Amino acid sequence: GKTIVVTGVSSGIGAEVARIARFGGARVIGVDRNDPSLTLDGFVKADLGTAAAIDAAVAQLPARFDALCNIAGVPGTAPAGLVADVNYLGLRHLSEQALPRIARGGSIVNVASILGAEWPQRLALHKALAAAQGFEAGARWLRDHPVPQQTCYQYFKEALIVWSATQSQKWLLEHGVRMNCVAPGPVFTPILGDFVSMLGEERVQADAHRMLRPGFADEIAPLIAWLCSDEARWISGANIPVDGGLASTYI
Ligand code: NAI
Repeated sequence: GKTIVVTGVSSGIGAEVARIARFGGARVIGVDRNDPSLTLDGFVKADLGTAAAIDAAVAQLPARFDALCNIAGVPGTAPAGLVADVNYLGLRHLSEQALPRIARGGSIVNVASILGAEWPQRLALHKALAAAQGFEAGARWLRDHPVPQQTCYQYFKEALIVWSATQSQKWLLEHGVRMNCVAPGPVFTPILGDFVSMLGEERVQADAHRMLRPGFADEIAPLIAWLCSDEARWISGANIPVDGGLASTYI
């Protein structure tokens, strides 16, 4: 079986990925700032919003593993600086630091969002941010290019999709590690309500009429787990929606 590291393992989508992966025979090492509520094969308690805490967490991970699922994230109701640190800079830093431990043929899966779909409108900014390598350089770049609180969640999910795409081929050629994003639509987890305050009642209602219902975590998790499997070995650099068709209604 494979060894899979899952961040955000203590709630929502991350917990479901851990459950499904273990059911499928994988060893799951969880990482979260909160204690997990399900049985895991290992757990590292860490705040994934600072480089120092991430470095300390990586030191506690197995010397070799097969996949990293970057699922931990905060909603846009959190301060913009925290959204930047956890959803983007921290995710990048963890991936970079973990990469030498990921076996050839391995996989990184980043959870983006349907709300990151508008990345082409800010492509130059996102590419420049992606080129600022390392947590500190990225943080410095963001101090010079501040992001409004109102749209910070969308901005950093866009940035994540662009960074994943631009970084993935290098890591595949040099390390044999694939990297993809999964972009969920609204999902019933503890943060679903935060999207009403982030987007406004009107947008949320409009979206609600374009889909049957929000998704459940166990409708997102199987794709994330499958992207870690050998069957997905020719999929890299992609951003795959799992949203009950919602994204297609914006075309
Ligand atoms: P959740 O709130 O149920 O789970 C998030 C987990 O991340 C929690 O266990 C939390 O403790 C952990 N976490 C947050 N900040 C952390 C930090 N600084 N250090 C360590 N762990 C931290 O939320 P959910 O819905 O499962 O979210 C998972 C991912 O899915 C997030 O990246 C979110 O942005 C994304 N997403 C969620 C959608 C939804 O409607 N629920 C829609 C689209 C994307």
